[in-house]
Amino acid sequence: MAKFAKLIVDQDFVISPIDKRIYGSFIEHLGRAVYTGIYQPDHPSADEQGFRKDVLKLVRDINVPIVRYPGGNFVSNFFWEDSVGPVEQRPRRLDLAWRSTEPNWVGLHEFSQWCKKADTQVMMAVNLGTRGVADACNLLEYCNMPAGTKYSDLRVKHGVRDPYGIKVWCLGNEMDGPWQMGSKTPEEYGRVSYEAAKAMKLIDPTIELVSSGSSNTQMPTFPQWEATTLTHNYEFVDYVSLHQYFGNRDGDSNNFLALSMEMDYFIQTVLSTCNFVKAKKRGKKDINLSFDEWNVWFHSNADEEDITENHPWQIAPPLLEDVYTFEDALLVGLMLITLIKHADRVKMACLAQLVNVIAPIMTEKDGTAWRQTIYYPYLHASKYGRGVALQPVLSSSKHDTKDYTDVTDVDSVAVWNEENQEVTIFAVNRDLNDAIDFQCDVRSFAGYGLLEHIVLTSDDLKATNGPDGEKVAPVLATDSKVEDGIFTARLHPASWNVIRLKGRG
Ligand code: AHR
Repeated sequence: MAKFAKLIVDQDFVISPIDKRIYGSFIEHLGRAVYTGIYQPDHPSADEQGFRKDVLKLVRDINVPIVRYPGGNFVSNFFWEDSVGPVEQRPRRLDLAWRSTEPNWVGLHEFSQWCKKADTQVMMAVNLGTRGVADACNLLEYCNMPAGTKYSDLRVKHGVRDPYGIKVWCLGNEMDGPWQMGSKTPEEYGRVSYEAAKAMKLIDPTIELVSSGSSNTQMPTFPQWEATTLTHNYEFVDYVSLHQYFGNRDGDSNNFLALSMEMDYFIQTVLSTCNFVKAKKRGKKDINLSFDEWNVWFHSNADEEDITENHPWQIAPPLLEDVYTFEDALLVGLMLITLIKHADRVKMACLAQLVNVIAPIMTEKDGTAWRQTIYYPYLHASKYGRGVALQPVLSSSKHDTKDYTDVTDVDSVAVWNEENQEVTIFAVNRDLNDAIDFQCDVRSFAGYGLLEHIVLTSDDLKATNGPDGEKVAPVLATDSKVEDGIFTARLHPASWNVIRLKGRG
């Protein structure tokens, strides 16, 4: 049968307004994310505070709305008091998660200044691993209380008169993982997160709290972890976190590009569990999802083990510096499409991470900052994926892979930005061999014409970018068109497509 893909985009088929925070990211004190990543006072592009302006520009171009900080595994033995106050008085600490030395040259204050420059918000995580309720409360008091109490006055003494006003707080990180400092059973985490959440909302009722979900779907306690922990803390939390990393470990690209179906299934399972807990509690509120770690991650695994095991306690060693291929960018695009399709319940998501560590942006210590292949789908989704997610009524030819059946050749979703009179259709052709005729019925958007059709493609699935140039960069399609409300294009085999339509009103 001939391969095809047909999509109906209708302004009445609304899934939900998209919370812009689904285009968030993550900076952990890990490897070179902070030191020689966002911060390097001796770099030629450093500003007066030591932040690399070349990195800031690439971050600002993406328009990242929220950045999770300071970890990750790092947070589970983080002593926040060491990261504030006069820099020269801050102690060095052993970071047990990554067996590195943390010099605390950048802490809460510096990071929040960086966020201002990057035009983004902080999503703060508290240590519920080796510490607990009191320390979480003290940190929140330091950050969000105006003045007149021990920790708010300490902040003022540190020269920061106005509270940081951090809105989103993660209650620990991957607390089910045996690799986590202070990991917990579901009962233990349920109890401590309930107590922390209750106390934190007494200090600042305007904050939003994220309960730590399973580290991934392969954890033995998934999804009972979510059921047990949310049963404990339902009353006080607003979101549960999801984490998922994929890799093409056995070199099967067809199978790799089907993995976004796994992400979809993960989201559905966690949503069902949230709804189950809501029903059990006779509750009124939905627990929404914060997919606050997602990406491709597998290229760097061996190097990382060598450094942490054989060369520990370095400051900012190169860790998790995956160099992404073109096919990784395709999967990142498919994952973004999956997140947008769930915009009604996925309200936050963080591409993990942002700079140098499994990241879209890389730096050379003595050189330039450059864009990985995955930078582009992330940029396009964040730039053009603001507005209302529209239900994709999609019919596509399908194929089977090693682990998945009925994988659609094309996956797609559309976003309507009514204010800008723009409709953007994101589509991936994950068929590696054949171009596919894509037809999209946009008749409900009368008068909308084609603004541009951006394409990211390559004949080499393993093509990478680097400091000296980009083998994978977007181009414009020339033979796409809209006629009588029908958009038509031939989607290149293995391609990420961003089709932008504009109203003429
Ligand atoms: O993002 C890298 C690490 O992956 C994070 O520190 C941890 O939360 C996850 O396992």
